[in-house]
Amino acid sequence: MAQICAVLLGYLLGSIPFGVILTRMGGAGDLRTIGSGNIGATNVLRTGRKGLAAGTLLLDGAKGWVAVVLCEHIWPGTGPIAAGAAFIGHLYPVWLKFRGGKGVATLMGIVLALHWPSALVYAVLWLGLLATLRISSVAGMVAAVSTPVSAALFGRFDIVLLLGALAVLVLWKHRENIDRLLSGTEPRIGRKRE
Ligand code: G3P
Repeated sequence: MAQICAVLLGYLLGSIPFGVILTRMGGAGDLRTIGSGNIGATNVLRTGRKGLAAGTLLLDGAKGWVAVVLCEHIWPGTGPIAAGAAFIGHLYPVWLKFRGGKGVATLMGIVLALHWPSALVYAVLWLGLLATLRISSVAGMVAAVSTPVSAALFGRFDIVLLLGALAVLVLWKHRENIDRLLSGTEPRIGRKRE
């Protein structure tokens, strides 16, 4: 029963589409019709509203963290299952006909709650690649793939499989980005999409 409750609460928290909500509240239109159409902070940035993008990044990360910490607190032992449910909620929110985000910010919050040293590696890779390459998708995918590796290197074998599955989902959700990267048309942060 506790696990079912954790799945439901985790999914509900993860499914809150902060990018869509903040963009609309900020009067910047429907995010799904802008840029890549993705509901994440990178695409909010394409509206030119840096504050809204920062808010989206923070809240998308926070909901992953809250889902894990809250469920673990209420129903001890359910943190990992809540993590998976929150992630699925962000990627496939019922409110947006299951067309959600790509998971990079939410995964950061989840990893922070599950194992902070892996989150530190994630943040360094993510921000480092973002600052140097300025290609959000590459930074996000590399950071996501690092999580099962970090967890294994730190001896947290109990979460390696979960993080590996979430990383595969991140790659799956970036399949259009991967196509654009291969054809050399993936936009860089700070430049307009063609
Ligand atoms: O976190 C999303 C990012 O990796 C890619 O977003 O809008 O460029 O497809 P976008």
